[in-house]
Amino acid sequence: FTAVHPDEQKFFNTALGLVKSAGRIVREAFEQPASAVETKSSNTDLVTETDRAVERYLIDGLHAAFPDHKFIGEESVSGGAKIEWTDAPTWIIDPIDGTTNFVHRIPLIAICVGLSINKELRGGIVYNPITNELYTAQVGTGAFKNGFPIHASSTQELSKAVIAISLGIHNLRESFGAKWTDLNFENQRKLVQAGFRGNRSFGSAAINMMMVAQGSVDGYIEYGIHAWDVAAAAVIIREAGGTIISPDGSPFNVMGRCVLCTGTPQLSSTISTNFTHVQFQAEA
Ligand code: IPD
Ligand code: CA
Ligand code: CA
Ligand code: CA
Repeated sequence: FTAVHPDEQKFFNTALGLVKSAGRIVREAFEQPASAVETKSSNTDLVTETDRAVERYLIDGLHAAFPDHKFIGEESVSGGAKIEWTDAPTWIIDPIDGTTNFVHRIPLIAICVGLSINKELRGGIVYNPITNELYTAQVGTGAFKNGFPIHASSTQELSKAVIAISLGIHNLRESFGAKWTDLNFENQRKLVQAGFRGNRSFGSAAINMMMVAQGSVDGYIEYGIHAWDVAAAAVIIREAGGTIISPDGSPFNVMGRCVLCTGTPQLSSTISTNFTHVQFQAEA
């Protein structure tokens, strides 16, 4: 690990402490009956008081420790607005990834905190406070789950691959209207016809990516995701030895609204070839 900022380790450790305590807010809410659920863009795009409380808690804590740092948080970015992303140390935050799971009390949710410096993703924390699984990585350290090293799978063949293909419903529907279903089903049909082993998708971009990072599934692909869904997880995937690119085969851009990650580049390339690609505007 070679820091690009003299205080980088302190940044990461501070965030780690805050994420762990934020876990308590999520756990306590999860144990109660579901309370008020609001919809944002549609019936599939949800937000709760807990999403907002966790984001406020993380931003307040980090801001108090590092007043000159910047923030890109899902519930603070106003819908559709361009994101301002600078060279300053920037925390990219999804307070609850998997809000639909949270609302339905499906225990697959993650608090995600990524750190960029000079627009390079440097550190990632993905924490499921319900199952108490804490994934961490910094550039050059390797990836860890609860302190133990994890590794992505070595599967190269589609016939041996379990892939998380997410429908990404609200993002696709917002951008492609009624056509989004065709796109999704066409892509799923193509992978079935190409003979992949199965689809397991967990309702959270970050959990899907942690499943790739720990080698449980071999790949994950989604169009329409946002920076906060993937920033933290991207560092962990890379440090776990996985590949992360844009589904059309171009380099991954955290602001590019799409992701394809796998254990091996061979598998990425096969999945990419078997997909119909769609174009999203970069969000920063
Ligand atoms: C969503 C989840 C979901 C993915 C969506 C995301 P949220 O995040 O990651 O798995 O399909 O694209 O928006 O809204 O639950 O934080
Ligand atoms: Ca959301
Ligand atoms: Ca999310
Ligand atoms: Ca969220």
